[in-house]
Amino acid sequence: MKKLTTVLIPGAIFVSLSMFVMGQNSRGPDDYVGNPERGAKIAAWGTSKGVASCSSCHGYDGVGNGTSLVPRLAGQSSFYLTHQLELYANGKRHNVYMTNFAQRLSPQERADVSAYYASLQSSFPPPAKELTPAQFERGRQLATVGDDKLTVQSCNNCHGPRGLGEPPSIPALHGQYSNYIVYRLQQLAAAHEDDDLMSPVAAALSPEDMQAIAAYFEQLGITDAQHSGGQKVANSLPH
Ligand code: HEC
Ligand code: HEC
Repeated sequence: MKKLTTVLIPGAIFVSLSMFVMGQNSRGPDDYVGNPERGAKIAAWGTSKGVASCSSCHGYDGVGNGTSLVPRLAGQSSFYLTHQLELYANGKRHNVYMTNFAQRLSPQERADVSAYYASLQSSFPPPAKELTPAQFERGRQLATVGDDKLTVQSCNNCHGPRGLGEPPSIPALHGQYSNYIVYRLQQLAAAHEDDDLMSPVAAALSPEDMQAIAAYFEQLGITDAQHSGGQKVANSLPH
């Protein structure tokens, strides 16, 4: 428990500090309260400034597409999604599509579309690849205990129980596509940002560990949905 508190404090300080700094000057990202109804329109149709409809890639349900490395957005916190759109817009995160779209959205539109996707509770598609028992064990170990030899603390220490996310700033990994998780871990491992919580963790993982932890988190989405009644899962399966 002590570990958890220590880990979460930097996030809390960051949030309150940025609110303080922004309150002093012009309007900052935290000043824009997202409106999910307006956001739904952007998700469905894009904008007149040349932003494509988000749904053409992420789906109107925010489920995304693992094969094309398009992440699931449904249920991520609005704060996290807005923050990622800002990182694209100001060049700190790069992607040919997302950089262009994020730059063409106003801060208010970024907050609106984030509020829309954050509000969704969508189904989880079955994982593309089967998880081997060895991967499951290794994945579970990294997620819940960590690895002392690698000086890696457990993912869930920051990402929350079952990787469900620790709002506002730490994203859910639960049910995210394994391809996308591996790809992001490789990106984050290469980032070497000193003030970043995630880069040192990613840099310590071998390619096999990345595969195992990614496959472990991907299957948790559908597994947990089945345990809680399975309704949402049934919707996603072909009849
Ligand atoms: C042409 C396909 C495409 C469209 C259209 C698109 N995206 Fe994306 N989006 C992607 C891909 C691919 C990624 C992963 C990019 C990367 O490598 O960083 C992504 C990543 C994101 C992320 C980061 C998610 C995370 O877990 O870190 C957010 C937020 C996002 N998109 C929001 C949007 C919004 C909002 C729109 C509509 C305004 C949109 N996207 C339109 C393809 C698309
Ligand atoms: C010390 C806290 C901490 C630990 C431990 C941690 N993470 Fe993270 N992780 C973060 C933060 C903070 C972010 C968000 C970074 C950002 O905003 O760009 C993040 C982001 C990520 C992302 C990007 C998600 C997306 O949607 O793009 C992945 C993937 C990820 N973490 C995987 C892991 C895995 C796997 C582990 C365990 C091996 C782990 N993390 C352990 C803090 C942590």
